[in-house]
Amino acid sequence: MIEASRLKKVYGSTSEAVRAVDGVSFDVAPGELFVIMGLSGSGKSTLLRMLNRLVEPSGGELRIDGRDVLKMGDADLRALRNRKINMIFQHFALFPHRTVRENAAYGMRVRGVAEAERLERADWALETVGLGDRGDAYPDQLSGGQRQRVGLARALATDAEILLMDEPFSALDPLIRRDMQDLLLNLQRELQRTIIFVTHDLNEAMRLGDRIMVMRDGQVVQLGTATDILHKPSSDYVREFVSDVDRSRVLTASSIMREPLMTAGITDDPRDVLRRLSDIEAGGVFVLDGGRIAGVAHDESLAQAVGEGRTSLRECLTDGYEQTGPDTLLVDLCRLVGRHVVPLAVTDDDGKLRGVVPRATLLTALSDARTTDPDNSRKAAAHV
Ligand SMILES: Nc1ncnc2c1ncn2[C@@H]1O[C@H](COP(=O)(O)OP(=O)(O)OP(=O)(O)O)[C@@H](O)[C@H]1O
Ligand SMILES: [Mg+2]
Repeated sequence: MIEASRLKKVYGSTSEAVRAVDGVSFDVAPGELFVIMGLSGSGKSTLLRMLNRLVEPSGGELRIDGRDVLKMGDADLRALRNRKINMIFQHFALFPHRTVRENAAYGMRVRGVAEAERLERADWALETVGLGDRGDAYPDQLSGGQRQRVGLARALATDAEILLMDEPFSALDPLIRRDMQDLLLNLQRELQRTIIFVTHDLNEAMRLGDRIMVMRDGQVVQLGTATDILHKPSSDYVREFVSDVDRSRVLTASSIMREPLMTAGITDDPRDVLRRLSDIEAGGVFVLDGGRIAGVAHDESLAQAVGEGRTSLRECLTDGYEQTGPDTLLVDLCRLVGRHVVPLAVTDDDGKLRGVVPRATLLTALSDARTTDPDNSRKAAAHV
């Protein structure tokens, strides 16, 4: 959706030039939530504003949906800003004398949408951000968090494919901020817009970002997933940031799961399954039917079936297991592991087994949360 190549912005005259953005390249896929993270002055806002040319780049290339943005004339540029892209700021202005509904509908007015449709879409957007009953209120009757949600509703109500968000939650209290992050993640799961989100908070970046681009002094110091950045910080600079992150609330089941040591197929012979199970000294095994978990077979019931000469695994199955989705946070896995003979199963939307999280794996990952020394964590993993 977005292809930026060696983008550059130099402010000021040649004698006192500030290289605010200094040769930055990245691609953003459709539907991706891409986070730009960095300290104050690192060039985040400048970079974001170059994407719709609110700031004119000094150099580089920029394509949006395949079109060369830097070569666009006024009319194309206006269409890009009014239809394709919407921008949400940290402190954005609501019109004080207009209702919340009119404020939410404002973005579409610029786009020339008819009034009835505008208000209908505004109501839908307000409903979506949890303000369905506040449409007739005025902005000064809302809290800061609610006002920020009106901003979000305004952006959603337009059908802009790309949302640029410049520290939209920074002015909010931590708890409300967390609610807004959850709201954004839920909305994004449903609506699949392409979002570029700027923040200076790595915890926020890690919670939200499919990928995170860390900037320093106008340059990219690392670009990767939260897991990449936690496990392989590219420099001491990034490592320093990472040491403040609560990994149990960032890492997910999919980032620590591993292949099960063995699985059985529903048509396997109990005798073979029992033999393989004793080879790995395990007490139970997931039995799969077309990749989905049919149940768990324990060694005793297998032994009994073999003793009685039965050949169907199906009669040996129990539901003695727990399963979770790949996106579950480590902090939420704790109550699921260690309750059964088999490890926690990680299944996808189709119910297919993607991996397992043994208790030891979870404990290692959580204890790693307290050390940032990669050698240490490797030793801990080897020990388990
Ligand atoms: N209009 C401008 N004229 C001159 N210099 C500018 C201008 N806008 C930004 N700068 C400079 O460019 C650099 C990057 O600024 P920018 O606002 O992009 O950073 P930022 O990462 O968004 O910071 P913050 O987290 O504080 O919002 C800074 O050194 C800043 O002083
Ligand atoms: Mg900024």
